[in-house]
Amino acid sequence: MNRIHQAEEALKKAGKKVNHRYRMGYHMMPRANWINDPNGLIQYKGEYHVFYQHHPYDENWGPMHWGHLKSRDLIHWEHLPIALAPGDAFDGSGCFSGSAVEYNGDLALIYTGHNMIDEEKDDFYQNQNIAVSKDGITFEKLKENPVIAEPPEDSSRHFRDPKVWRHGETWYMVIGNASKENVGRVILYRSPNFVDWEYAGVLAQSDGNLGFMWECPDFFELDGKHILLISPQGIEADGDSYQNLYQTGYLIGDYDEDTNEFVHGSFKELDHGHDFYAVQTLLDDKGRRIAIGWMDMWESEMPTKADGWCGALTLPRELTLKDDHKILMNPVEETQLLRESEHHECANQSISGSYLIKTAEKLLEVVAVFDLTICSAETVGLKIRGIGQEETIIQYSLADQKLTLDCSKSGKARDGVRNVRLEAEEKLTLHLFLDRSSIEVFANHGEATMTSRIYPKEGRAGIELFSEKGNVRVEEFTYWTLKDIWKGDEAK
Ligand code: FRU
Repeated sequence: MNRIHQAEEALKKAGKKVNHRYRMGYHMMPRANWINDPNGLIQYKGEYHVFYQHHPYDENWGPMHWGHLKSRDLIHWEHLPIALAPGDAFDGSGCFSGSAVEYNGDLALIYTGHNMIDEEKDDFYQNQNIAVSKDGITFEKLKENPVIAEPPEDSSRHFRDPKVWRHGETWYMVIGNASKENVGRVILYRSPNFVDWEYAGVLAQSDGNLGFMWECPDFFELDGKHILLISPQGIEADGDSYQNLYQTGYLIGDYDEDTNEFVHGSFKELDHGHDFYAVQTLLDDKGRRIAIGWMDMWESEMPTKADGWCGALTLPRELTLKDDHKILMNPVEETQLLRESEHHECANQSISGSYLIKTAEKLLEVVAVFDLTICSAETVGLKIRGIGQEETIIQYSLADQKLTLDCSKSGKARDGVRNVRLEAEEKLTLHLFLDRSSIEVFANHGEATMTSRIYPKEGRAGIELFSEKGNVRVEEFTYWTLKDIWKGDEAK
């Protein structure tokens, strides 16, 4: 039996044992067992493909395969067979993260080969490889692999997560890396033909405060600026910033292709919830830069392991640039395809204390607009309420200009609170997506986003609008029940 077939068989078996209590209704997730980073995001022949790090044999991380999903509309996803399995001479212990491009009309994946030398001493080497598919489903690893056998001389052995693109006649690749002195950085390669790569130097590196290793880089133009997206390991927590074990964020600047110089501003986190990492992007035929992240965090509690699966990806989000210095992140407009029934409540009413909108539905989109110019309250917000004590709170403090997501009573008893500064002057718009085990908050049209996994045990009582120490005018409150795109899959 070949390795892909064997993994498919294992998944089929594991799928039958999955407990459905926290299964997602409209997010990307595995059929069973473990997933982490999104990989190889691409629109290819009109369809969106998302691959992901996958261990098909266990609910814990292990020898990495690439799982595969595709969609026509970024919303309705279809599982395809595993695309890559490790075990060849150049990827003996894992096919780590990477990207996808169209190459001579074929779909090509570029990924890191992870090769263990001594497991006990955690001694390994990493290299870069290519696999190509004619039908977009079955992939053949190139005989030229590894196409980059080793890192540059001044590098540590951390050398992974290639993101490739083409500009004119030249292919470019950025790779996540650490120097010998363990300074996190991104390095750049060039190729005239996609197979022979030449080292072009360091694109950006930590100034000493940005960690010991930069994972999962992505480098692209957005509205005339260049963005380097990175997932650094080892940034120290600082007030409300950098609260998770690892971060995902970006540097904005200008890039000179001739000198390979990237002049950029300071690092900014992309999302301020608990579970958002290893983000990658694709450019689609509408010219949109679409980002998808892993909706979990390394070493956090992952209760769905007990259910036979673990890991999900965020909704696809469109990135735009605000005033050349900040990225706004909003759900792609196709999320509207998920909407079933629409409900309006409380519009143009003043609330004081709390107002409960009853609904037992689990899959919801919510838009709430608070008029902060007609507001005497100190804090306003929403509570996603269980029928007992459970709640997830999204709260805005007017005096501190702080948005808070509190999941401590919805499955994150330890370290359940995250904060982000949000300068909401006239209006506070909260746009929420709730799934069975996640919440994504988009505040003031992408000025701040907060993404966390939640694990409610109770049924849902509804959504409570609240104001503390005063009242607030609610301009709009709309919610939609959302479609379960995976419905029926349980039976398979
Ligand atoms: C990021 C990461 C990548 C690596 C992959 C392994 O979450 O650590 O750097 O390629 O996960 O699964």
